[in-house]
Amino acid sequence: MVDADAFVGEAVAEIDAEIGDANAIIALSGGVDSSVAAALAYEAVGDRLTPVYVDTGLMRKGETEAIRETFDYMESLRIVEAGDRFLDRLEGVTDPEEKRKVIGEGFIREFEREARAADADYLVQGTIYPDRIESEGGIKSHHNVGGLPEVIDFEGIVEPVRDLYKDEVREVARALGLEEIVSERMPFPGPGLAVRVIGEVTEEKLAVAREATHVVEDELEAYDPWQALAAVIGKATGVKGDNRVHGWVVAVRSVESRDGMTARAQEIDWETLQRIQSRITGQLDNVSRVVYDVTHKPPATIEYE
Ligand code: XMP
Repeated sequence: MVDADAFVGEAVAEIDAEIGDANAIIALSGGVDSSVAAALAYEAVGDRLTPVYVDTGLMRKGETEAIRETFDYMESLRIVEAGDRFLDRLEGVTDPEEKRKVIGEGFIREFEREARAADADYLVQGTIYPDRIESEGGIKSHHNVGGLPEVIDFEGIVEPVRDLYKDEVREVARALGLEEIVSERMPFPGPGLAVRVIGEVTEEKLAVAREATHVVEDELEAYDPWQALAAVIGKATGVKGDNRVHGWVVAVRSVESRDGMTARAQEIDWETLQRIQSRITGQLDNVSRVVYDVTHKPPATIEYE
């Protein structure tokens, strides 16, 4: 474990030395990694850092509002509303890797425009140690690692948390005084709810995944999972009121993990599972079934796509 206070001092000095008097930009995802990287870089260079949050429409419930509040103190914060553009880009795309690619590329297009407008020479990224390992191993294309540097000709890439594990990043978040919503937040994938929807991404499926993920995160907080989530995995027949419905099947998943590279499905008590089921099917007319995923990683992954 790193000494978080010492790390902050060293990281700020290092960023300051690297960026000097130039301009920098960072993409905020709402996750703890990019939040910590942004806070460190902002401390080093102030408003010469432009933090950009692209609202892809694939985010968790209340995410944009939370970002706005948390980073309100950064005057250079940019929030880009891109939900409609991402839905257009994803129309007809069903293959999981293709989806990631389309989202990654869409993200680059949005970010490219912002980087030009900010006249940014340096790119700051919240890449952490496991991201680098998984990407090098070619397990999945994590979009927060590749892409950006190749398309935009930055003078340099600054990755202040590149050698840290997730729990170390959280320590640093606390040392920086970032609010709990950021420092204690469950990790969320770069491609967002798109990897919690099997097959084509539509507004309807996204709305189900978003609300169900909110219920699951809320109900399972007491279990202190690494990640708890809900995914829309298909359709099944059910009966609601007097009618047979062909509704969505929602899978609930809750895992323990140290770094996301392996994970164990958590044992959840029946009452809690039933409460989750009744909240989800009660709030969402188009959901006919809720199932609990008992698979560890490996052989499964944490996300569904
Ligand atoms: P998997 O599903 O690969 O997830 O077991 C491991 C951890 O990584 C997150 N994840 C991602 N994070 N970009 C990210 O920034 C991605 O493309 C991505 N895919 C998965 C996932 O939520 C889990 O914490």
